[in-house]
This record gives sequence, C-alpha cells and structure tokens, in this order.
Amino acid sequence: MDWGMKNRLSRIFRPETGRTLMLAIDHGYFLGPTSGLEEPYETVKDLLPHANSLMLTRGVLRSCIPPETDIPIVLRMSGGTSILRELSAEGLTVAVEDAIRLNASAITLSIFVGEEGERETLLNLARLIDAGQEHGIPVLAVTAVGKNMNRDARYLGLACRISAELGAHMVKTYYCEGFEEIVRNTPVPLVIAGGKKRPERDALQMASDAIQCGASGVDMGRNIFQSDSPVGMIKAVRSIVQENRGVKEAFEIYQEEKASSPALEPQPA
Ligand code: R5P
Repeated sequence: MDWGMKNRLSRIFRPETGRTLMLAIDHGYFLGPTSGLEEPYETVKDLLPHANSLMLTRGVLRSCIPPETDIPIVLRMSGGTSILRELSAEGLTVAVEDAIRLNASAITLSIFVGEEGERETLLNLARLIDAGQEHGIPVLAVTAVGKNMNRDARYLGLACRISAELGAHMVKTYYCEGFEEIVRNTPVPLVIAGGKKRPERDALQMASDAIQCGASGVDMGRNIFQSDSPVGMIKAVRSIVQENRGVKEAFEIYQEEKASSPALEPQPA
C-alpha cells in the first residue's frame, strides 16, 4: 500500500485507536429532502469538532460546507436512483478526478447483493477500486439493503466478504446478531450504519455492541442529527468508539449535554 493511501486511511481511522466516527449526511442522494438535513451546514457545524470524518455527496460538499473546514471527506460516488424506483440500479455519478479536486480522503459507493443491480453495482465497486488504487484513494463499500432484503448475518456477511474480495479498503454494513462472524470473515475494517432513528439509549447500545464485536467504528447519520440533542449524541457515540466507554456512561454524556443546551425549537408541521 503506498504512502498516499496509508495517509488517507490514517485520516479516517484515528491512528491512536484504529477507529472512526464517521458522520453520514449523504441521505439526500436517493431520499431527497431528509428531516434534519434541510440546511446541511446548520446541522453539522457543531457536530464536526466531534466527528473523525464526514460522508456526503459532492453537491452538498461544494454548496454547503466551507472549504476551510478541517474534516476528512468520504465522498459518495454512486447514485442515479430515487426512493420511488429500483434502488439497486445505482451507477457511478462522480469521476475520480473530481474526488481528487475536492480533496476526498476516501470514496464510497453502494453495492446491492441479491438484488437486480447486483452485477452492475459489484462491477462498479471493482472499477472504483481500480481508480482508487491508481490515485491512492481508499474505497468504502456500502452494503446497501434493498427493499426486500433481510439484514441478517448470512446476507450482510456475504456482501461484506464479496466487497473485501473485490479489494474494498473498508466496508460499511449493519449491525446484526452474529456480527462477530461477519468481522471474522471480512479481512478489512468494518463500520456500521446507524439506520433509522431509534431511542438514544438503543442507538448507543447498538454502537457499543458493534465495537465489542470488533467493528472499527460507526458511520452514523439519523441517530445523531435527528436526536433531540445531536451534540449530546455525537459526544456519546464518540465516547464509545474512541474511548471504550460503556453504554451507561455514554448515555449520561448525552443526557448532560441535552440538559445544558436550550431545547430545540419545535419544527413546523
Ligand atoms: C445510506 O445509504 C447512506 O449512505 C447513509 O450514509 C447510511 O445509511 C448511514 O446513515 P444512517 O446512520 O442514517 O443509516
């Protein structure tokens, strides 16, 4: 692995711990307007000091994030579908030259194993890895879940192993029962997505369970930015990922921050 590739990976996974807290705000690429991301910079500006990297699309990066911002970027390179149609029909949407221009520390796309778009999304992953290898940019494979897919160890383990076999430098998947087997069968770092918003304590429990099973971090979005205390939540998740704190202690961090901040304005219906 060359110096540039290693350097970029060390910007994502903190060298002190080998773990990352990636803040995901790329949801609009297929969901369109997403609750909590109406004004992306307003949402993330107080969260960025606590995140290790930021995952987003080039449109939001260019339009909303000041270029002076000091955060490693994980750039979404796939899309072309919407929640209204077949999600697995994603293609590559960004040239690697533009990712370099945007100073991305890593590039990412979704694969849909077991869905109509399986072959095309896996070949796109291979193409993106070739481009990443050429330019020293690591690739994060996102094991996306189609409308009819089960988030179980058999399916997710299959998708993770295939990603690693194709050469992905890191893989994002979902936490599930038997997660430690997925970690054992995937010879590159795994991070977990948060999924839909759930009660704060449950989300912290999931992050903790994943770390205990060997995950190298989280790539979390809605469970942070849709929380009633996004700063409290990101601090709590960070304490689990980077400081090995337990769920009880992390939940107290969230509660303390929530108590010390003014209540969020109710959103108009
Ligand atoms: C989904 O494909 C997106 O890449 C999100 O970044 C990912 O699901 C993580 O966000 P969340 O924690 O909200 O699921």
